[in-house]
Amino acid sequence: MLPQEIIRKIRNKERLTAEEIKFFINGLCSGEVADVQAASFTMAVFLNGLSKEETLALTLSMRDSGARLAWPELADKPVVDKHSTGGVGDKVSLMLAPMLAACGAYVPMIAGRGLGHTGGTLDKLDSLTGYKTSVDIEKFKETVKKTGCAIIGQTADLAPADKKLYAIRDVCATVESIPLITSSILAKKLAAGLQYLVMDIKCGNGAFMENRERATALARSIVDVANGAGTKTSALLTDMDSVLGTTVGNALEVEEALSYLRGEKPDARLDKVTMALCTELLLNCGIAQSAEAAEKMLRQSIATGAAYERFMQMAAELGADMSIAEAFADKRRKAPYVEPVFAAETGYIAGIDTRKVGLGVIMLGGGRTRPEQNVNHTTGFTSFCQIGDKVDSQTPLCFIHTEDKDALPEVAALLKQAVSLSDTKPEQTPVILQKIV
Ligand code: URA
Repeated sequence: MLPQEIIRKIRNKERLTAEEIKFFINGLCSGEVADVQAASFTMAVFLNGLSKEETLALTLSMRDSGARLAWPELADKPVVDKHSTGGVGDKVSLMLAPMLAACGAYVPMIAGRGLGHTGGTLDKLDSLTGYKTSVDIEKFKETVKKTGCAIIGQTADLAPADKKLYAIRDVCATVESIPLITSSILAKKLAAGLQYLVMDIKCGNGAFMENRERATALARSIVDVANGAGTKTSALLTDMDSVLGTTVGNALEVEEALSYLRGEKPDARLDKVTMALCTELLLNCGIAQSAEAAEKMLRQSIATGAAYERFMQMAAELGADMSIAEAFADKRRKAPYVEPVFAAETGYIAGIDTRKVGLGVIMLGGGRTRPEQNVNHTTGFTSFCQIGDKVDSQTPLCFIHTEDKDALPEVAALLKQAVSLSDTKPEQTPVILQKIV
């Protein structure tokens, strides 16, 4: 087989066999397929797509490009996970993992860093001093066994083909391809040895899939491929036309997540998304027999403090300084400048350009402009307005937290631009848009 002939076939819209795809992915890992050929491959797939069978074959080849985890030591409970396609203010993983652990599931979660304008769970966890997101498989397994959950980063030996291909896609304008996103996400998730997976497919102006049609197609692709590979999977399409919750930015989001786990008044949309994704998994894995029973268990995990305790146990196991973690809001490092941003006029929030809000965090140093960059954990936004909120000269759009006073005017201008106002209160739109099984 020749790599160039495989690329040529995709270019000409001919179908590839599973053997050809495996040959190409193995060659990518061994170095026999050059990066320029891999780049052409991703562009050909971006332009012409792959069939369902080809996407499955690509996913399995990428899954098998490195180690595959198995969990014989966790046979007593279901092994579950959730994955989001990325949003702004999306801190759901931080609550979902300990809540499900408290309800009797194991949650070995391999999370990612911020991508484009979206935030990443690992960057958020890095704001917990000492927390190690990079541990070996043995420590990962030990933590899941002990505390029911562990959130860590992709280890070097898990789906290395994805690492290589993703870096190439990132600089070749081939990220937003449904078969490539499907295989990239699932290669990692399937290598992690899950039994049950729920996907949170974000849809809207703060998501990679901006419209409903593309988001539905991505959900369909991921659900079909994951189920075809033997992991029971469903997906929820959730709204990303506004910030999820009231905070954006690493430590600020951890603070909101911990407050949620302590049972303090949560943001309604954040609560809906968290509960819906947790419920979906509890039903799929058989821990709960009805949505009502699932919700009751989940609410109890918060009311009894069990979920909060699981989070703290996980943090302690993974090396966090508990004197800071347990009093996070007081003891964490804070940005010295906290300034409100007011809209130019009084009115109701009618729309939010959520992508701009994500870019605002990057401008404050809370996200990356280069891959190797460190992020600032203290910066971001709190009390972020929601669609339908009234803003006036007393009620700001949000508060900006920054270590760089000079960044304030530009970021404030961006946020004012990102928000549109109306004289009348707009109708609330649903946050859970659709379920795909
Ligand atoms: N997240 C991934 O891991 N891969 C993609 O391609 C997109 C989002």
